[in-house]
Formats: sequence, structure tokens, C-alpha cells
Amino acid sequence: MTGLIEVTRDSGVALIRLNRPKQLNALNSALAREMIAAVQDLDATPEVGCLVITGDDRAFAAGADIAEMADKTAEAMQAQDFFGEWEGFARSRKPKIAAVNGYALGGGCELMMMCDFAIAGEGARFGQPEVKLGVMAGIGGTQRMTRLIGRARAMDMHLTGRMMDAAEALQAGLVARVVPDGQVLQQAMEAARLIASYSRPAVRLIREAIGQAEEVSLDEGLLFERRVFHGLFGSPDQMEGMAAFLEKRAPVFRGA
Ligand code: HXC
Repeated sequence: MTGLIEVTRDSGVALIRLNRPKQLNALNSALAREMIAAVQDLDATPEVGCLVITGDDRAFAAGADIAEMADKTAEAMQAQDFFGEWEGFARSRKPKIAAVNGYALGGGCELMMMCDFAIAGEGARFGQPEVKLGVMAGIGGTQRMTRLIGRARAMDMHLTGRMMDAAEALQAGLVARVVPDGQVLQQAMEAARLIASYSRPAVRLIREAIGQAEEVSLDEGLLFERRVFHGLFGSPDQMEGMAAFLEKRAPVFRGA
């Protein structure tokens, strides 16, 4: 099956829209395969500097597809490594912004957290309601949410299954910005165009350095940051960026 996502390109930005509106963009295996293939393809496309992931007005995504999972056994889930492929999305190397309207629940909230940051509409709702189905998060919800918003809030969300509104999500640090519902995609695209206009090596290393903050000790992270910072010097984009500032003109980055 195809068409479960729609990919469009706008200069340096690729927009990926989930396209299962009748199921509130619930994530099934076929959609996961399409998404991962698209993201890998975009990773290998030099013109693309940033990705925006979105749903529709009603839902970013209301979770993994419950109908697909309902009859599975543990053995079948493990044999298939069900949804293990989503790690390919999380590990992909281009910056990803989640543009969230409506529900971001379960796997939908987890997909949002796999992105670098989220811009949400005032009416967006977030939650990890898997506990109500007799299961739990399976594509990073217990791990990424705990890192993003802390243990107490993550426990609250996962154990009660309640929804958080956009104001609370902003305050908790689950999303980076909350904007009027009608402006979510526009603001995400603007941010993506800005990121795509910057030096690709600088953007890549900033992502990797911030990624280290979740993995290693402070000392190791600081050393990593300092070394990659040093490593950018002498590159065409560093020379251009600093020369442009001193010459009071806009830089023209080559991506090298
Ligand atoms: C399959 C879903 C779905 C889902 C909604 N639908 N969420 N189908 N999987 N996760 C379908 C409904 O069955 C319905 O289909 C249609 O979308 C519209 O949904 P309604 O429930 O009629 O809409 P509404 O009353 O507005 O309620 C919206 C809602 C509710 C609050 C978001 O749909 C809901 O609670 N959805 C489930 C949320 C959830 O539990 N997510 C976690 C899933 S588990 P029909 O055919 O009736 O029109 C998960 C595990 C992640 O994500 C781990 C991965 C391994």
C-alpha cells in the first residue's frame, strides 16, 4: 500500500504529511515502512536541509494502529520486532520539526518526540494512553518523555494516561513553541527554511552535540562539543559565515 504519507519539497525543506485522516493518522506497519524509506531517501538528498512532519487539523497521529495490533501475540511482536524500524526515523541525520495540530497520542506523541523539536497549535493534545489498552509505550515514550519532561511528569502521563494540553506541554518542555492553530505549519516551515539556509556541517554537528547531552557524562559531552566546535574552523562555511558578519552582508553557505 502507498500514499500513507505525502512528501512534498519546498526549496531546502521536505514536508512529510501523515495521510490516514479517517484513522486519525494512526501509525501502522505499512506507514512506518513508507516513512522510514522517505526519510532515508531525504537523508541522501543534498538539497534537503530540514524536514517537517505533520498530520492534519484533527490529529498529528492518535497512536499506533490499535486494529493492527489487537490480535498479536508477544511471540509475533518480537519475531517481527514490531515498530523497531522507527529507530531508523529517530537516527536519521536531517533536522526534523514536528508540526502538531490536534491529537498527538501514544505512538503519535512518541513520533513527535523523535523529532528535534515540536511546534504545536493551541488546541493540540498530548498523551501516552497505552495503559488504558493494557499495554505501554513501545517506540520511546518512557525513555524520551522522561528525558524531556522529567520523571514525575512522565510517570503521571504514562501511569494515568491523561492528556496534556498545549500550554502544559510548553511549560513542561514537551514542545518548543505553541502558536495559534492556524499558524502551526507556516511557522514550522519558516523555522525549517531558516535551518536549511544555515551551514549543513554546523547544523549536523549541533544536532550531534545536543544528542550527546542525552547519552554521556557532562565532562564527555563538553569535550565532544569543544572538539566538534574546533573541527568546524577552517571550513568554507565557517570562513564565509564569519567574513560575512565582519563585512556586514548575508552569508552564502556552500554546505561544506
Ligand atoms: C486505530 C484509531 C486510533 C488508533 C483513532 N482511531 N485512534 N484507529 N488506532 N490509535 C480511529 C477510530 O477507531 C475511529 O475509526 C476514527 O479513528 C476516529 O476516532 P474516534 O474515536 O471516533 O474519534 P473521537 O471520538 O474524536 O476520539 C479521538 C480520540 C480517540 C480521543 C483520539 O480516537 C482515541 O482515544 N484513540 C485512541 C488513542 C490511543 O489509545 N492511542 C494509543 C494507541 S497504542 P472509525 O472507523 O470508528 O471511524 C500506541 C502504542 C505505541 O500508540 C507503541 C508502539 C509499538
